[in-house]
Amino acid sequence: MRAARVHAYGAPSAVVVEEIPAPRPRAGEALVRVHAAAVNFPDVLMMADRYQVSIPVPFTPGSEFAGTVVALGPDTDGPAVGTTVMGGVLTGAFAEEVVAPAHVLRPVPAGLDMVSAAAFRVTYSTAYHALVSIGGGVAGDRVTVLGAAGGVGSATVDVATRLGMSVVAAASSPERLAVAAKLGAVAGVDYTRENLKERLKELTGGGADVVVDPVGGDHAEAALRAMRWGGRFVTVGYADGRIPRIPLNLVLLKGVVVRGFELRTIGEHLPEAVVSADAALAELVAGGMRPEVTSVRTLSEVAQALTEVAERGATGKVVIDMGAP
Ligand SMILES: NC(=O)c1ccc[n+]([C@@H]2O[C@H](COP(=O)([O-])OP(=O)(O)OC[C@H]3O[C@@H](n4cnc5c(N)ncnc54)[C@H](OP(=O)(O)O)[C@@H]3O)[C@@H](O)[C@H]2O)c1
Repeated sequence: MRAARVHAYGAPSAVVVEEIPAPRPRAGEALVRVHAAAVNFPDVLMMADRYQVSIPVPFTPGSEFAGTVVALGPDTDGPAVGTTVMGGVLTGAFAEEVVAPAHVLRPVPAGLDMVSAAAFRVTYSTAYHALVSIGGGVAGDRVTVLGAAGGVGSATVDVATRLGMSVVAAASSPERLAVAAKLGAVAGVDYTRENLKERLKELTGGGADVVVDPVGGDHAEAALRAMRWGGRFVTVGYADGRIPRIPLNLVLLKGVVVRGFELRTIGEHLPEAVVSADAALAELVAGGMRPEVTSVRTLSEVAQALTEVAERGATGKVVIDMGAP
């Protein structure tokens, strides 16, 4: 099968497409023919060996995909062969076939095409869990979303708005804020030009109830300083490259709750939250929610697809269409 391969850590330009043997599913696993796979920022981090977990080279990047189950491993309970599924793995999805634990596969919700399905699971599940399962967000809450035009950020704006929360978006340009506004953000702050803390305080009418932060860096502390007393700050990622170090006296003074969210381990710690998130997201899809896919490329263009995300050029999601029949 054809697969993207990383032979040495570095920039996305170093990824190559090669013929390699198709993987075989072991017990508990399914083999999926990939129709489409979406690019996520962690793919770029793994290729540079800057992710939380180091992946030994050579490897096939790609974590989020949609496709058709073509085989199940021995003694495996999972979606039947022929089912269209979406799923997430650590690596391996930028290939014609991927092996995944059967329990991480979910049927593609009715009405979602394969490109949209590939772009859906990581960002929308992250958005829902950060907002609701971890952030405790409910209708009427005021929510601040940092990096609001990125993959996780735009999904968070979308989900929050559809759940009746009021979103103030923060991003690095008027064009990026326009993406968030289109998804329902009621106001925006350009953190490259405006004082993030002051503007957020004004625009949220005295402070957000929930902050969802996939960016980190200096923006995290500014957003936390602009929260109302007792708000919930959810740290999701560090696209900025710098992990914020928040002075604890700020947490004391503001009475805020700081919580972290990680999609990779949520099923282990809060299995019931995964079930309710899946149900809530399926309902939102039935109501017309779709990920914003702004770039669709072929497997041969995988390096360009990864570069778009690495260089902060993408608004919405970049998807690789495998051209599967
Ligand atoms: N915890 C989890 O389970 C989980 C799940 C998915 C993703 N993540 C993490 O969440 C973060 C965002 O992921 P994503 O898929 O939303 O990425 P993305 O689509 O690339 O969006 C990241 C956003 O961060 C902002 N940003 C600020 N400084 C940046 C920099 N130096 N380089 C690139 N972007 C920068 C950009 O918006 P502006 O230009 O507007 O600032 C960009 O839109 C990543 O760190 C990822 O690892 C975590």
